[in-house]
Amino acid sequence: MQLLHTIKELRIWRKDKDFIGFVPTMGNLHNGHLQLVKEAKKQTDHVVVSIFVNPIQFGVGEDFESYPRTLDQDIEKLVDVGVSAVFAPEVKELYPTPQVTFVEPSDIQYQLCGASRQGHFRGAATVVNKLFNIVQPNIACFGKKDFQQLFIIKEMVNNLNMPIKIIGVETGRANDGLALSSRNGYLSDAERLQAPELYKILQQLQQAILEGDNNYTNMLNQATTHLNTHGWQVEYLEARSAKTLLPAQVEDKHLVILAAARLGKTRLIDNIEITL
Ligand code: PAF
Repeated sequence: MQLLHTIKELRIWRKDKDFIGFVPTMGNLHNGHLQLVKEAKKQTDHVVVSIFVNPIQFGVGEDFESYPRTLDQDIEKLVDVGVSAVFAPEVKELYPTPQVTFVEPSDIQYQLCGASRQGHFRGAATVVNKLFNIVQPNIACFGKKDFQQLFIIKEMVNNLNMPIKIIGVETGRANDGLALSSRNGYLSDAERLQAPELYKILQQLQQAILEGDNNYTNMLNQATTHLNTHGWQVEYLEARSAKTLLPAQVEDKHLVILAAARLGKTRLIDNIEITL
C-alpha cells in the first residue's frame, strides 16, 4: 500500500492504473468506512482512500481543531482491507492559497444539516470536486448516513458532467443500531447507552408509515417531542422525498426520514429510507 502526501505523488501513482475506486474520508476510520472500501474493491482494481480533515466544511465554533486525527491506526486498518493507496495531504497541499473558487450546490444546501452548518455543503462539495480532479476515480463510494451529502455529490456529478459513478453504501451500525460515526467517540458512557434511541424512533416512524399512516407532520411532531423530553435536543426530524429531498408529499413512494439531534454536546445524524 502506498502512502501519498502530495498531489504530485498521487498523479505519478495514478498514471499506469486503469479503473480506480475512491473513498474520500476525514479519517478516524470505523467499520462504516471499511464497508465503503469493500464496496469499492468489489467494483474496481485499485482503491484509493483519502484522509483529509477539510477546514472549509467546518463552520465557526465547530470541531475542526478537535476532530479526531488517527492516521497511524487508520493506515493499519486500510492495509488490512487491502487498499492500494492512501492520500493524506496536509492542508497547505490542498489549499496552498485561499480557496476562492467553490462548488455552489442547490438550495438543498441550506436545509436540514445546512440550516445550522453554514457553508458546510459548499465546503464538502468543493473538496470532493478537488479530490475527484486529483484522483480521477471511475467510481466513488459515500455512506448513506450522510444522505444529504450523498444527494449533493450526486447532483454535482450530474450537473458538472463528471465521468464518475457515485455509489451510496448502507449505513454501518453498531449491534444496538447506532449509526457508526467518528463523532460517537465524543459521547459519554451514559450518552452512548442512550444514543441508539434515535434510530429506534426512525424505525418506529418507518413502521407507522409502512402501516399506512401518512400524517407525517403529526407523527414527526410527536417523535420530536418525545426525544426533546427524553434528554435530546432535536435540530430537525423531517420526512423528505428520497428522490428530490423536498418535503415529503403523500404521493411520494420513496421517502427518507432524516434526523439531527444532540445528546449533550454531541450532534448525531441518522436517517431511514421507506419504499411504499
Ligand atoms: O463525509 C466526509 O467524511 C466528508 O464530508 C468528505 C466527503 C470526506 C469530504 O471532506
